[in-house]
Amino acid sequence: MKAILIANSKGGCGKSTLATNLASYYALWKVPVALVDYDPQQSSLEWLKQRKDVHHPILGVDASSGKKSTASIPADIERVVMDSPARTPLPQLKRLYDFADVAILPVLPSPIDIRAMGHFIGELMLEGMLDMARVGLVANRVNKNTLVYSNLEQFLTRMKIPLITRLRDTQNYLHAAKKGYGIFEMLPHQVAKDIEQWRPLIAWIEQK
Ligand SMILES: Nc1ncnc2c1ncn2[C@@H]1O[C@H](COP(=O)(O)OP(=O)(O)OP(=O)(O)O)[C@@H](O)[C@H]1O
Ligand SMILES: [Mg+2]
Repeated sequence: MKAILIANSKGGCGKSTLATNLASYYALWKVPVALVDYDPQQSSLEWLKQRKDVHHPILGVDASSGKKSTASIPADIERVVMDSPARTPLPQLKRLYDFADVAILPVLPSPIDIRAMGHFIGELMLEGMLDMARVGLVANRVNKNTLVYSNLEQFLTRMKIPLITRLRDTQNYLHAAKKGYGIFEMLPHQVAKDIEQWRPLIAWIEQK
């Protein structure tokens, strides 16, 4: 079993988008996968509810109330995708991080988000949660060649955190999410660019 934690204290940076798309990728490839939602907002589990007619099953686990946890995941599950809420208290985040094999931090290339990321990374460092071998960053909703984007790149280089991939800003994620799909399950010619951008992330996770 390999567990992938998606985390960032900042809201709206793409945690649930990454979690749901990643889970659907494994499901599509028939890898038994669980999607564990720690967020009382339940965005990931709401997405899963839309998936009724999809042939690639994903086991949803509601871990938001603290009643269910990764301990309830059947042994035959091979990938566990953990979607955490914004502002997860650090002790709880530490428990999730300790369980996870890798942690992915999505960040938006806006000045506010980059600043918030700086604080978050500082907190992770203090709590011993910044093992560079298993923490990776994903720049999300990127329109390349903009000034904010280059600010983000500079910031990441300074922090020495690996930038695994950049995902462009596209309606494809919205269209997919509406139906409970991941972009991997959309018409290939519509999402070819996006799938290309996901490849380094999948490869990074799988080599860990
Ligand atoms: N690459 C993208 N292109 C376009 N829209 C995106 C992209 N990534 C995320 N979004 C949209 O941005 C919004 C916020 O994304 P998401 O819910 O995944 O963030 P989150 O970090 O889980 O938020 P929260 O902190 O509230 O849990 C959603 O409407 C989502 O569809
Ligand atoms: Mg979310």
